[in-house]
Amino acid sequence: MKTQYFAATSLDGFIATENDSLDWLFPLGDLNSSSYPAFIADVGALAMGSSTYEWMVRNAEKLASEAGSAWPYTQPAWIFSSRRLPIIEGANIRFVNGDVRYAHDEMRTAAGTKNIWIVGGGDLAGQFYDAGLLDELIIQVGSATLGKGKPLFPRRVLSPALRLMSVHQLGTGMAELRYEVHKGDPGGDV
Ligand SMILES: NC(=O)c1ccc[n+]([C@@H]2O[C@H](COP(=O)([O-])OP(=O)(O)OC[C@H]3O[C@@H](n4cnc5c(N)ncnc54)[C@H](OP(=O)(O)O)[C@@H]3O)[C@@H](O)[C@H]2O)c1
Repeated sequence: MKTQYFAATSLDGFIATENDSLDWLFPLGDLNSSSYPAFIADVGALAMGSSTYEWMVRNAEKLASEAGSAWPYTQPAWIFSSRRLPIIEGANIRFVNGDVRYAHDEMRTAAGTKNIWIVGGGDLAGQFYDAGLLDELIIQVGSATLGKGKPLFPRRVLSPALRLMSVHQLGTGMAELRYEVHKGDPGGDV
């Protein structure tokens, strides 16, 4: 069982524009032609912050018409927020607030032998990293720059803590980088 941060980023390190648009991302490649289908098949629980969840709420109708469901995940999901958020009908979700270690314990129990996916955003993934709970980063780097936006991973983590394990080209629009986080290595400076 691993805790993995799988996300797509612009070349200059942003996972969304400053107003949470992902429109720049979709033309860069088809998620289903990447490692995503194999990845998600091994996910047993997932976590996301409120901006990511609110993107799903805003796009629920579109997701329902395209994918047949307003909530695309069958796995239980933990939504981090200090606010009351609308509920997407049919979604297996619970809202949590504060220290990620408590939610991680619950996610680990729910996931069993499967993996835990930290969907994003970047600071939430950073909170799991800070707690020593992040094992891998799987980052799809798009052939586009945004100039500003929501950061991929707003932490300082220096080699050798991050070890590049594989690189895959996905056409001309994306490259997928897979990193292991080595917890014993003093590579971080948070
Ligand atoms: N390109 C990709 O692969 C990818 C992946 C994931 C997300 N995204 C997009 O990127 C953007 C990410 O937004 P973001 O950077 O703002 O991150 P986010 O993690 O989605 O949302 C951040 C918010 O979550 C809440 N939160 C975070 N940690 C918390 C904690 N420990 N306890 C309680 N609440 C907590 C806080 O808001 P409140 O307390 O005010 O609720 C915080 O401001 C979204 O637009 C999303 O759609 C893109």
